[in-house]
Amino acid sequence: MQNHIAFFDTTLRDGEQSPGATMNLQEKLALAGQLAELGVDVIEAGFPASSPGDFEAVKTIAARTRGAQIAGLSRCLEEDIDRCWEAVKVGEDPRIHTFLSTSPLHMEHKLRRKPEDVLKMIEVGVRRCASYTDNVEFSAEDASRSERDFLCRVVETAIKAGARVINLPDTVGYAQPEEFAALVRYVIENTPQSDKAVFSVHCHDDLGLAVASTLAAIRAGARQVEVTLNGIGERAGNASLEEVAMALSVRKAYYGFTHNIVTEQLYPSCRMLSMIIGRPIQEHKAIVGENAFAHESGVHQDGMLKNRETYEIMTPQAVGRAESSLVIGKHSGRNAVRSRFESMGIKLEEAELNVVFEAVKKLADRKKILHDDDLRALVHEEIYRMPDRYRLRHVSVQSSDAGGVPPTAAVIMDVDGQEKSGAGFGAGPVDALFNVIADIVGRETELEQYAINAITGGTDALGEVTVRLKGGACTAVGRGAHPDILVASARAYVNALNSLIKLESEKCGNN
Ligand code: KIV
Ligand code: ZN
Repeated sequence: MQNHIAFFDTTLRDGEQSPGATMNLQEKLALAGQLAELGVDVIEAGFPASSPGDFEAVKTIAARTRGAQIAGLSRCLEEDIDRCWEAVKVGEDPRIHTFLSTSPLHMEHKLRRKPEDVLKMIEVGVRRCASYTDNVEFSAEDASRSERDFLCRVVETAIKAGARVINLPDTVGYAQPEEFAALVRYVIENTPQSDKAVFSVHCHDDLGLAVASTLAAIRAGARQVEVTLNGIGERAGNASLEEVAMALSVRKAYYGFTHNIVTEQLYPSCRMLSMIIGRPIQEHKAIVGENAFAHESGVHQDGMLKNRETYEIMTPQAVGRAESSLVIGKHSGRNAVRSRFESMGIKLEEAELNVVFEAVKKLADRKKILHDDDLRALVHEEIYRMPDRYRLRHVSVQSSDAGGVPPTAAVIMDVDGQEKSGAGFGAGPVDALFNVIADIVGRETELEQYAINAITGGTDALGEVTVRLKGGACTAVGRGAHPDILVASARAYVNALNSLIKLESEKCGNN
């Protein structure tokens, strides 16, 4: 399809390599389902040979996700490739994505191999992938700093060995858009049999150019883009899926390409990711940030009232940010709740709906109107969490500004199914809470980050707390949401402790 752009989403692989963006199996599975709803063509579910946890996650996603091809990443080594195939083979149209560095710098210092040896490794590796499937992608890591004619030999070797997708990454975000487009065009025009492969690009954002380089490469002949939700990924991140998709849609007449992204699912997808990794979307982030459709100045507001197109190049509805006219509150029934979730793109099994419905009722007792973001936070709290070793039951906290009376906290929680309780003091109420929980679980950690964010406006808004804990060599992020910010804080802290244990059992999930 000459005029079609395939979206290859790597949020679960490159995105997860972003510090603090670790996800548990349940969360990865939920996100993979949402990516399929969003209409991505390929989901890169992980790097199976990197850890037993990653292998299990890719295998489970491959088994349970329908509506998108499932890819696994693999170094160009026999044992990695075999492991990758083992994980993805049950998926829909499974893909092996193998890679090897091709720049002089990487070949000499990272691989310590001669260019001819690298060509041989590519030939042998890709051939092994092709012995399993014809859905093979080869990436020339650090392509943008590779020598052009050598890159053409690399691509020719990979195509001859059976690769059907050739990916040219700007691994360190070094290329300038025109320069990168020229490289893509050169490789396509100067590689024998380049018409046998689809060309793809994968741009990092170190100079803030990932989306620009991706779009320039499309005009030079790339027909697959590798992107992530909210642009998360190694270092400064990857090209953002929502920005590339909306550029192609809003400027369709300019680009002239079709794609399968259901743009109304963009905001729900980005928001789901932000809740899973516990990082709020930057306020001024294009397409999905809080301010992306806010018009503050009088002149702009006046223009908007006269004709929206004066200052709005796309509608909030087009990216899934429409406010619903159906209000969920205390008196809403099960069907209203179910249909509200369905219109947000969240399908719940009957048992899940029961759990969420109870939680909706409880929250509606404290908060008059529940917004979509409150409902998403509830689903995250109630459904996507893994069964945990530590479970919070009750907290009670006393603040104080009297000199001799320090803030105090009392906590009841389950540790390995056994009820435990404790009480203690701290410099402030959050400190008191965290001290007591740390005492109960008998574990010292370092609190690296504590952030609080109000989900939706009003004094009755849900407080969303994110904490980052360091314990030994691992760092884990935890999240908690509740109208009482101290309860949300305790939940986030306990959630981070549970994640830390899981990470430690998977050797920090490091690739
Ligand atoms: O940035 C990069 O080069 C990569 C490859 C593994 C595709 O992530
Ligand atoms: Zn990358």
